[in-house]
Amino acid sequence: MSARKIIIDTDPGQDDAVAILLALASPELEVLGVTAVAGNVPLPLTERNARIVCELAGRPDVPVFAGCDAPMRRKLVTAEHVHGKTGLDGPQLPDPSMPLQEQHGVEFIIETLRDAPSGAVTLCPLGPLTNIATAFMRAPDIIEKVAEIVLMGGAYFEVGNITPSAEFNIYVDPEAAEIVFKSGVPLTVMPLDVTHKALTTRPRVEAFRDLGTEPGRMVAEWTDFFERFDKEKYGSEGAPLHDPCVIAYLLNPGLFSGRKVNVEIETGSNLTLGMSVADWWHVTDRPANAMFMGDLDAEGFFALLTERIARL
Ligand code: BDR
Ligand code: CA
Repeated sequence: MSARKIIIDTDPGQDDAVAILLALASPELEVLGVTAVAGNVPLPLTERNARIVCELAGRPDVPVFAGCDAPMRRKLVTAEHVHGKTGLDGPQLPDPSMPLQEQHGVEFIIETLRDAPSGAVTLCPLGPLTNIATAFMRAPDIIEKVAEIVLMGGAYFEVGNITPSAEFNIYVDPEAAEIVFKSGVPLTVMPLDVTHKALTTRPRVEAFRDLGTEPGRMVAEWTDFFERFDKEKYGSEGAPLHDPCVIAYLLNPGLFSGRKVNVEIETGSNLTLGMSVADWWHVTDRPANAMFMGDLDAEGFFALLTERIARL
């Protein structure tokens, strides 16, 4: 079977970095390109971080593009309080030597989808949906060519992590999220409801460190850094590896379970801006537009992740 072609759209972020490593370690996936977006930290840092991660995986051949530097209609909100000043705080990191591509990330997404047969390319957004929605607005002909979007974003039972009612990726660019959720493309969503179950524990982090490799050490040191925030905030044992859930789903969908439901994005209210309103109990007639995940096999998830990081 040939590898599944994906574009990773991302705002690294330690958990984004682990997701990129997981994808690059997996022969089932062909990463056509990585498009950076402003999110956890501003764009000059997210595109730089994406290049550092590709090099860490020994894959400087993967093209990295800079996309949008601000949300469609709002000022950028960042998350240095979670990810540190660079977005990848924790270990000492080298400067990247691979070049940034000249083409804009949005143009890369448009061109790649136009050149591919319908249903050949899956989009994997791990940050605010600005690049994807901008591509859909600029080139509506590509929408029907997307095989599927598997994204990290939103929350229902877990409500919010950046406001009481909104998850960060959706909150940063709710107008972009609305475009994507209304696009008609098959959507698989990894909300906080599931990613908060992908929790690091001491043995799980030590398993990465014990690999004795540079990528293993980086993953351990990133999660060490990242988890201080969640431990304080939620009193949880470790840190949720949000974004790797997207890639793990592509590799083994059986690790996840959820419901096909209607999900709409709040773009008007100040109080609940960016809320992902999931009709989990099917109490409306609104048509289902997303597979909204709710649970995962955490042991299976970490076993997969550790086995793949060991290959790098
Ligand atoms: C999401 O926000 C970012 O901080 C993480 O990288 C993840 O994509 C979780 O809400
Ligand atoms: Ca992210």
